[in-house]
Amino acid sequence: MSLDYWVFDPSNCEFPKPRVSILPSTLDCSASPNRNLALSDIGLRHFSRGRYALGEAYRLAGLDKQGALLAPAYHCVTMLDPALALGAEVRLYSLKSDLMPDRDSLDQICAQSDKPVKALLATHFFGFVRDFSWLKQWCDEKGIVLIEDCSHVLFVEQYQASGAGLYGKFIASSPYKFFSCADGGLLYMPEASFLDGLPTESAGFLAELRGIKSIIEKSRLPKISTDDIDLIDWQLESITTTAPRPWSDQRTERSAQSMQYSLALARTAPLRSSRWVVSHSSVKNNITRRQENYRRWVQALSDVPNCHGLYPDIPPNVVPYMFPLYLDTPMPHFFWLKQLGVPVWRWDEMAISNCPVAADYRLHLLHLPCHQSLSEVEMAWMFAAVRKTLAIPEAGVQ
Ligand SMILES: Cc1ncc(COP(=O)(O)O)c(C=O)c1O
Repeated sequence: MSLDYWVFDPSNCEFPKPRVSILPSTLDCSASPNRNLALSDIGLRHFSRGRYALGEAYRLAGLDKQGALLAPAYHCVTMLDPALALGAEVRLYSLKSDLMPDRDSLDQICAQSDKPVKALLATHFFGFVRDFSWLKQWCDEKGIVLIEDCSHVLFVEQYQASGAGLYGKFIASSPYKFFSCADGGLLYMPEASFLDGLPTESAGFLAELRGIKSIIEKSRLPKISTDDIDLIDWQLESITTTAPRPWSDQRTERSAQSMQYSLALARTAPLRSSRWVVSHSSVKNNITRRQENYRRWVQALSDVPNCHGLYPDIPPNVVPYMFPLYLDTPMPHFFWLKQLGVPVWRWDEMAISNCPVAADYRLHLLHLPCHQSLSEVEMAWMFAAVRKTLAIPEAGVQ
């Protein structure tokens, strides 16, 4: 099937590289490996990315050219790619402003689907674990397989954020988003027998070497210093008085998966170094630092105009993946932040739906890092950069 996407392309803007790593970049090894494995190894398969774990989940749920997937309207393309690679139809359901699925939309989309709906993807966005018990009941009543997307959740062999993985027939996660490793995707299925006969191939010797090199290189990236904080005012003055370079934001039709989904990697196992890093890293430190950094973001931006945190309160079971920040006027603030080199992600390439929240968040919602590798100076620099940038009224743009 083909889907229409909005694709934002800033390549003309020539943004500098982010000055701080958006994902964990330093090793934080415990004295002894994490041995208290909580998940049964029989129900687990390891992949190089969460998208390939999702691909297997979709396939095992019976998704093929004759079936449809219900997926959240706010998404990154890699959540849809594996379904498109199977030739399946993708139907996007609406979300409420807190990114919880909208039940009325689910009922409507499901009733309108001309192909049988085989699976529903439910995402715990940004690590905020949701109670999907009602969704499981909804799926059970309709004979639809519920797949829990834990890509933003700390969900690995030795630790699963409380409340995650309770309702899905399949659970997919992305350990590389939580640990300083080159790759990693996990598929967990409580009814382990479904994974029988599902082989994965090892990545190969050269890929292993490249993985180790990338771990070492990441930890050696140039670091921000306190002098950089003093330079922000001066940099902003120059950035905000120069007209931004043109970008493009275009509607495009695509009939297959994006370039970010490689069929050749669909059955590749993660690197051994990645699994080593995950099993030897301190989970406790990971949790504590992320929660602390998230709270510090909330506090640092509490009095800042032109923005608000999507989730200002963080319940104790949440191990945040990123800090989601809503910008009132992405143009110019997103541009200025990118030009300063602030590490921001945004899902600005997205399949088009009827969901007003997804349409709004595509350009307005930023994902800012709160991971465990961030140093005091890096946090201080990011706070200062975001505070100062957002304090500039958008009316000042030329
Ligand atoms: C919510 C969500 N689900 C699934 C994926 C796919 O995960 P991965 O990058 O591990 O393939 C992503 C990708 O960023 C994601 O953000």
